[in-house]
Amino acid sequence: MTENLTIAVIGAGGKMGQRVSNNLRRTDHTVYYCETSPAGQQRVRDAGLAVTPNEEAVPGADIVIYAVPDVALQAVTTATVPLQKRGSMVLTLDPAAAYAGLLYLRADLDYVVAHPTHPSVFLERTSAEEWADTFGGIAAAQNSVAALQQGDESIKPVAEEIIATMYGPVDGVYWASVHDLAVLEPTLNETIGCMIGQFLKDAMDTTVEKTDMDEDTVKAMFYGHVYIALTNALRGSNPFSDACLLAMDYGREALIKDDWERIFNDDDLEIVICKMLGIEAVNHHPEVHAPQPAAV
Ligand SMILES: NC(=O)c1ccc[n+]([C@@H]2O[C@H](COP(=O)([O-])OP(=O)(O)OC[C@H]3O[C@@H](n4cnc5c(N)ncnc54)[C@H](O)[C@@H]3O)[C@@H](O)[C@H]2O)c1
Repeated sequence: MTENLTIAVIGAGGKMGQRVSNNLRRTDHTVYYCETSPAGQQRVRDAGLAVTPNEEAVPGADIVIYAVPDVALQAVTTATVPLQKRGSMVLTLDPAAAYAGLLYLRADLDYVVAHPTHPSVFLERTSAEEWADTFGGIAAAQNSVAALQQGDESIKPVAEEIIATMYGPVDGVYWASVHDLAVLEPTLNETIGCMIGQFLKDAMDTTVEKTDMDEDTVKAMFYGHVYIALTNALRGSNPFSDACLLAMDYGREALIKDDWERIFNDDDLEIVICKMLGIEAVNHHPEVHAPQPAAV
């Protein structure tokens, strides 16, 4: 265990802010909960925590967790990172803004991005609490993939401990580059995985619409088949039948464009990141600011 740290959670009343705060409050670290919106402040207070203004919490913090929307990260880090003390850590929760060059960078700070993986569809859940915790961070174990955007490798153990705590229970923290983390999130997870998840729902609704079956009948057939499709394809649990393979080929030809792998190209990654952040272009060479006078 690392020594006791001082941690500021910016956006503590938001969706992720509440989750990470709820885990960090149970540690021996000194944690400050910062939130600007009245509704968010009320959520922090309803959780039994005190709201501390950013300007009070940030200057003394060893780690500042930016749990604010990605579209706000440029403005929020520009206002807040200059308040951080020398050698402290900027911890963000999604790679999009880091990849797009939107974070306010300072030469004397460490920058880590850590995204939760969510509990695996194949996790062997044994309790009601684990089944209920679909997102992760409460009872079902998940992992995190992190990227060291700037800083020395030696900070990784401390970063891992805080990441594992704020997203806990966590089995492991994996490390990748910011670019590769962005290939995972959004490309693999959202552009493909979440899109296909929603497409499965659309296909199920269409089945109900185009047949005489009710939704329960369709669900009874489909949910088990979704699971066997995933476990056969991802874990090789069983071979798909010969007839099924032919139907799969037909579906792939009918639905998937030949050049689908282009979404893994950097040009396409930038298109989706620009859409998500509402920006025209990513900045591959963001300015790195000198240490701030206030932070010496
Ligand atoms: N929501 C998810 O499922 C999810 C999953 C993984 C990662 N993330 C990442 O977590 C981060 C936060 O996303 P979210 O969905 O929790 O956002 P959110 O909109 O739910 O919450 C953000 C909170 O930040 C507050 N805030 C905004 N500016 C602030 C400031 N200057 N000082 C203090 N508080 C401020 C807002 O009032 C709000 O309460 C993003 O980087 C997102 O990509 C979100």
